[in-house]
This record gives sequence, structure tokens and C-alpha cells, in this order.
Amino acid sequence: MSKKERIREKAPLNATSFSNKKAQNGDKAPLLEALSLNKEFTTGDEKLSILSELNLTVERGSSVAVLGASGSGKSTLLYLLGGLDRPTSGLVKANGRDIYSLSEPQLALWRAREVGFVFQFHYLMAEFDALENVAMPARLSGLGREEARAKAEPLLDRVGLGDRKKHRPGALSGGEQQRVALARALVMAPGLLLADEPTGNLDARNAAMVNDLILELVGERDMGAVVVTHNAQLASLMSRTLELSYGSLSPLDLETAS
Ligand SMILES: Nc1ncnc2c1ncn2[C@@H]1O[C@H](COP(=O)(O)OP(=O)(O)O)[C@@H](O)[C@H]1O
Ligand SMILES: [Mg+2]
Repeated sequence: MSKKERIREKAPLNATSFSNKKAQNGDKAPLLEALSLNKEFTTGDEKLSILSELNLTVERGSSVAVLGASGSGKSTLLYLLGGLDRPTSGLVKANGRDIYSLSEPQLALWRAREVGFVFQFHYLMAEFDALENVAMPARLSGLGREEARAKAEPLLDRVGLGDRKKHRPGALSGGEQQRVALARALVMAPGLLLADEPTGNLDARNAAMVNDLILELVGERDMGAVVVTHNAQLASLMSRTLELSYGSLSPLDLETAS
């Protein structure tokens, strides 16, 4: 038996039981939990503590806005919540299971199936059209071309770009590119959306449109969402608003915050 197979045997990934939609521990465990999360970066001989004993719970159907100064660790937090990095210590649990106890292939599979990411910059692939970009996660998850397109098409319609299927990213406006990126994030019907300043590059009108779509789609799909934003209007529409400061999260009252 190869090393890879042994790892698989030891910790089989049961996609259904580990899914965000059907929780392993009944529906009691939260969709996502960060417990005493610490993240340090070491550069040369300097150690920087970015996240410190951070706790967060995200329930299904709830949205969390995260605000905080530049450099406070918001992106670092999202990467850790989405299994893109590893904490120095502490746990991230999805449906009660520690995601960082998974092997790299299992973690990659969890990310592909259960997490939708939207970043400030869209990261669409320039040589593919809008429909192919949205279908990409489905293709990478092993679906055939037609099956992937069948998933992608309604989502592209849903974000109002049904008539831009053949457009490549370069032929789309900034707001349209971000709507394609949102559709791509949702094509595998993940339980969790993680968005890092998704409207940071957009003008007010396009930002409002993308914000509305995020909230509508998260609501329709009963997803959990963590959205890093500087947009107080978006934050005010979410279930909770938290501020990241000195490495941990605390409730932020938008009315009193300047
Ligand atoms: N890979 C890394 N190595 C060293 N320092 C890093 C790394 N990633 C982020 N940092 C530092 O961590 C801090 C928080 O970064 P980041 O999470 O990007 O902040 P934010 O998204 O809130 O602006 C910054 O001071 C940044 O320089
Ligand atoms: Mg950031």
C-alpha cells in the first residue's frame, strides 16, 4: 500500500458526512468555528503575532461582516477559515470537524466542494469566456464539460450576465467581472462563502449591485458567509458586524463607529 493510500485509509473523506449541508454531528455543530486561533509570521528573526486567541462561530444562514484597519489580519483570517493556510495553533472546525487534521488532498477537496471564495481582484482566467470561468470549479471537481456548463449557465443568468456568456474577462466591466467571480464561487453550491473586500475595486453603483447579489444569493442558499468589507452599508445588512483589532474579533456597533 502506498503512503498516499495509507493516509486515505486512516482518514477516509466521506463527502456527505463532512459536507456543510449535512452535518456529521447532526445539525448541532455550527457550519464553521474558529477556536483560539493564533497566527504568527516569522520574517528573518522577527516574529509577528497577527491573530491571537481568535474565536468565531458562523451558523448556517448567517452572514458576518469583518471590518478592520489595513494590516489587521483580515485576509489572513479568511485564508485560515477557508483552509488556504495553516494556523500556528488553534482550530478551525467545519461541521464539528477540524479541517487542519485533514490531509492536503482532503483539505483541497473540502475547499473545492464546500467553500466559495471571492477576492478583491477577480482572478478570472483571461483566455476563457465568462461561462467557462464559472464552470471551471465544476470541471476541476471532475464534472464533464456539458454537466459543468449546465451548472454554470443558470448562475450566470442569476447574476444578470446571461447575455455575456461568450465574453472574455477583458471584454467585461469591473462590476461584471466581479459578478462572474461570484457566480464561479457558487457553482459547486458550497455551504460557505468567504469574500475578501469583494467590492473594494468597484465604483459605488457596481459595489451596491454586487453587494445586493451577495446578500441575496447567500440568503437564497442558506449559506454562511464571512465578508471582509470597508463598506458600512453592506455590513449593516449582514447578521453581525465584527471588528478585527489586535488579533481578535469584537462586536462593532456601526451606529457609534465613525
Ligand atoms: N506570508 C506572510 N508573511 C509575513 N507577514 C505576513 C504574511 N501575510 C501577511 N503578513 C502580515 O500580516 C499582517 C496582516 O496582513 P493581512 O491579513 O493581509 O491584513 P489585512 O487583510 O487586514 O489588510 C500584515 O502586517 C502583513 O504584512
Ligand atoms: Mg486584506
